[in-house]
Amino acid sequence: MTLEAHHQAKVPGVEARAGKFRGPSLIPMLMAIQERCGWLPREELEALAREQRRPLYEIEGLISFYPHFRTEPPQGATVGLCHDLACWLKGSEERIAQLRERYGDTGDVEITGISCPGRCDIAPAATVDDRPGRVEEIPALLEARRGGSREPGPTVAYGPEGGWPNDPYERVEHRYGALRALLSGEITPEQVIDNLQRSGLRGMGGAGFPTGRKWELVRTTEGSLKYAICNADESEPGTFKDRQLLAEQAHLVLEGLLMGMVVTGARRGGSSSATSTAPRRPCCTPRSSTCGSWG
Ligand code: FES
Repeated sequence: MTLEAHHQAKVPGVEARAGKFRGPSLIPMLMAIQERCGWLPREELEALAREQRRPLYEIEGLISFYPHFRTEPPQGATVGLCHDLACWLKGSEERIAQLRERYGDTGDVEITGISCPGRCDIAPAATVDDRPGRVEEIPALLEARRGGSREPGPTVAYGPEGGWPNDPYERVEHRYGALRALLSGEITPEQVIDNLQRSGLRGMGGAGFPTGRKWELVRTTEGSLKYAICNADESEPGTFKDRQLLAEQAHLVLEGLLMGMVVTGARRGGSSSATSTAPRRPCCTPRSSTCGSWG
């Protein structure tokens, strides 16, 4: 074992996130506890460890990695103000100081700095008990929270009149045209890969891996079950674009995911949610026959 591997094997959070423990992801279960209790009481964690037959130190390792999880009961409502890059540039530190001054003595409001919740477009962004909103909306969100509301914050859409200019489909009934062409045999998976490679499309993460090459590699790799995962959020500054795409142009994301599944032979597909701390949920599990008649 290398020194690095030996070191990593000793860190339960690393092991858990790397899938070293057998069993389903604990993150949605921890989120459910926090949603129900407002934080993660020790007895709930012990019960979870017993139910799932997983070591408590694995659970604690996960919790310590994600700042979203609370290990102490909140003092009333929790107001989070993002202090990541986009919000810092828009004066979040001063806003945090102002909020502490305004609510500091009330005792039922806790002000805390948080990492990017994916609302960079309204920087500096805030959350009230994880409900996102503009800084100016904090008093109203707090009022609603005091009234017992657990409804999500106001849904906002910032698209221009007439929609975004990146939609190749002018009319709603024309949507999924490329997928239909692929399913009908009008275009082949090889043509899709060839088009992707010639387009120069690359992943927008750190590696910048060529998308056409990736699809080709997965298509030609033998495997009884392949998965297609649409990563809709890495929580980096600017990640709000992914949420806006899903909120306003979900058909483009879904069509790309389904085409990737058809081309690579993936039988199951899903998308991560628009905040890095939310659970991942499958959005479709088409069999090839279902896919063939889809649309
Ligand atoms: S950097 Fe603040 S919401 Fe993204």
